[in-house]
Amino acid sequence: FWAGVPQGPPDPILGVTDAFKKDTAKNKVNLGVGAYRDEQGKPYVLESVLQAEDILHKKKLDKEYLPITGEIEFVRLSAELAYGKDSKPLTENRIAVAQSISGTGALRIATEFLAKYYPGPKSVYLPDPTWGNHIPLVEGTGMKVVRYRYFDKKTIGLDFAGMKEDLEKAEPGSIILLHACAQNPSGIDPTKEQWKEINEVIKSKKHLALFDMAYQGFASGDLIGDAFAPRYFVEQGHQIILCQSFAKNLGLYGERAGTFSMVCSSPEEKERVLSQVKRVIRPLYSSPPLHGAQLVATILGTPELFEQWLKEVKKMADRIISMREKLYNALVELKTPGEWGHIKSQIGMFSFTGMTADQVSDLAEYAHVYLTKDGRISMAGLNEGNIQYFAESMSKAVKG
Ligand code: LMR
Repeated sequence: FWAGVPQGPPDPILGVTDAFKKDTAKNKVNLGVGAYRDEQGKPYVLESVLQAEDILHKKKLDKEYLPITGEIEFVRLSAELAYGKDSKPLTENRIAVAQSISGTGALRIATEFLAKYYPGPKSVYLPDPTWGNHIPLVEGTGMKVVRYRYFDKKTIGLDFAGMKEDLEKAEPGSIILLHACAQNPSGIDPTKEQWKEINEVIKSKKHLALFDMAYQGFASGDLIGDAFAPRYFVEQGHQIILCQSFAKNLGLYGERAGTFSMVCSSPEEKERVLSQVKRVIRPLYSSPPLHGAQLVATILGTPELFEQWLKEVKKMADRIISMREKLYNALVELKTPGEWGHIKSQIGMFSFTGMTADQVSDLAEYAHVYLTKDGRISMAGLNEGNIQYFAESMSKAVKG
């Protein structure tokens, strides 16, 4: 039957973990996948999550199916977290929200829905570069991927003029995917003023803004600041779509908790949209998983746990920021050719170092250090124990 099945390539991000696991060297370092690690380089379960586990355990809840659109409290509290309690469309009951299998699942619902019902051009504009999985996610639904300029190689910063020009040139009513904060992989976000200009272009061209928000709170430790862009767009009257993930900010990677949401023009429209969202979800996976949603709902709905979480998310963000500082200092001290200020100015989990694919493969071969081919490093994989080794290895690879 399957003689004609060709071997597929390894996943550009998760394949790095596979390669890392196969390496038997003691000093190996994995800076591939974006997953937080503590000071000891170990996966980190938040104290707020452990306490929520205890609460749930004591409640001895049943394991019944959730509704197709998910756990009701989870959905309500997640939307409040993303949009703000006083968000106009939220108080007017016109945001369609459904629990999703984390960020990827939310994007899947969004793209399936758009492919079926979007009346405008079926092209999704993705920043260049973007998270690798965006591309098959869009293409899998038969829609077309178009790229807009985002990263400027020369300045290792945002190509804002190029971005605006491309969004202006796009056919009116195009779908524009935007990273709400902590752009993956570049770590470069527009400033508030730039977001306001992007909003103007998108509004004047009647484009649809599709936000991917995987890092609320994780980018800067500030839940409201990190949600500036989608909230501003909503205030400006955009009927945005938002894909929300709790993988990073609550460390719930494997629990797969997230939401898909869409701002509609009325409660009646919201109901119609939700009825079709259910028809997208049902044949995909019937209904979403229970446990992660219960954990999130418990944390967001219990004031003490919420406070605890805020401290923890800030702690994670701050540890990453301190690693940026250390890496920068070490590279400068080692007289590494180039300008490394971007390591400090970039935001979120990743740093887009500017290393070439050859340098990346040298790092794996000679230093047992693993990262994605595009030169992105997960800052969270660095700690006091390995940062000097990494900086020396990186410096050597750059010097050639
Ligand atoms: C990443 O970019 O490393 C993360 O978002 C994890 C993933 O699923 O790719």
